[in-house]
Amino acid sequence: MMDYGKIMCRRVQDIQPSGIRKYFDLLQGMEGGISLGIGEPDFQTPWHIRDAGIFSLEKGFTKYTPNAGLSDLRGAISRYLKRRFDLEYAAVGQILVTVGGSEGLDLTFRTLLEPGDEVIIPTPSFVCYGPLVSMAHAVPVLVETKEEHEFRLTPEELRRAITPRTKALVLPFPCNPTGGVMGRADLEALADVLRGTDIMVISDEIYAELTYGGRHVSMANLPDMYERTVVVNGFSKAYSMTGWRLGYVCGPKPIISAMTKLHQYGIMSAPTTSQYAAIEALDHGDGDIEAMREEYDGRRRFLVEGFRRLGLSCFEPLGAFYTFPCIKSTGLTSEQFCDRFLAAEKVAVIPGSAFGPGGEGYVRATYAASMHDLGEALERRWLEGQTGRVLPVLFEEEKGGLWQGHAPSYALVRAQGENLHNRLLDVKITGVEGNVLVGVAVDG
Ligand SMILES: Cc1ncc(COP(=O)(O)O)c(C=O)c1O
Repeated sequence: MMDYGKIMCRRVQDIQPSGIRKYFDLLQGMEGGISLGIGEPDFQTPWHIRDAGIFSLEKGFTKYTPNAGLSDLRGAISRYLKRRFDLEYAAVGQILVTVGGSEGLDLTFRTLLEPGDEVIIPTPSFVCYGPLVSMAHAVPVLVETKEEHEFRLTPEELRRAITPRTKALVLPFPCNPTGGVMGRADLEALADVLRGTDIMVISDEIYAELTYGGRHVSMANLPDMYERTVVVNGFSKAYSMTGWRLGYVCGPKPIISAMTKLHQYGIMSAPTTSQYAAIEALDHGDGDIEAMREEYDGRRRFLVEGFRRLGLSCFEPLGAFYTFPCIKSTGLTSEQFCDRFLAAEKVAVIPGSAFGPGGEGYVRATYAASMHDLGEALERRWLEGQTGRVLPVLFEEEKGGLWQGHAPSYALVRAQGENLHNRLLDVKITGVEGNVLVGVAVDG
């Protein structure tokens, strides 16, 4: 018998699977389910971009490209970054085309990190940073961001986390899952802490096009920061191209050159068809970005307002396409909340705890879903029952195991009796006496 536990790499075995996946798996096969779980645009890739990919196939462009990516694509990325974000990166030497932002992040960590180096990661944030840092033999240092700071990283928090072993800071803004953003003044304050150190910034700007307050500012825009910043970006979110698996990394030439060696041996070159489609996206896709962003913005307001109406406090997200309502008032953990919401109403949202420290007590619900689905999810009765907002009159009295009170005829109500400590109970409705509902408390 082979003992695979002994054979496989310990670091890989120690990595926990993403807490997000479970909810997709559970939702699969549930008829009528609504997913506000997956971080993926619900739009199709615009036709002119798809056409460019198809046309490249018709022309027979089916071979490897240069390791760093097609030079026309790197030229298009260079022009785009200047036009949209005032960032200057040379097509030759400063840009590497990757298999999604995901590969870009992995390469950046592996290129920069020595064993034992520390990487500061603000949380709650995207699930990949910690595991990828660990796989690069380095140590993730998780720093909890707070709702009262609008989920930004403060200079004090950064200062406290820095040690002589700190090699890099991840800046995950606009942030998945919180929707938090960091403006120029916020970044300036962090830059003041970083100047005079050797700490590198790994700026994950995959949601840079999806901001709703003002335009995205990159750490690389700030004086002295350009030379210590690696920018990771991609096509998945801005152009709704998740399945094309295309992204890029920009930064100082020696770093990009070292990264290109890893990419060359591990990947060869990013998908060729996707690279041709991406040129079209960058050169002619500004209008698509605006149209999708406007649509997201409307949905964002709708969902935030919906949660607030239901009595859940909801931070106003100004970036990406996620809301991050606080569910502490329900008395449930975020995982219990998500499990029960899915079981009762077939709506998938993701526990905040899946995104690291600071996420407990919150859930992530995306508005990269149709207005119809958002409306349906908000009207699900279980949610109303949790918040008590639509169920103001609850089961008030217990009589011989029977609960009596005024409540709509669905289960899970908040029992507010003296010795119940505001617990949530499943109450099975057994009948109506006059205008009073009668139910039996069900253990659960
Ligand atoms: C913050 C963040 N960074 C990076 C990625 C990776 O995106 P991709 O590899 O599709 O470019 C994601 C995907 O969800 C993300 O949310």
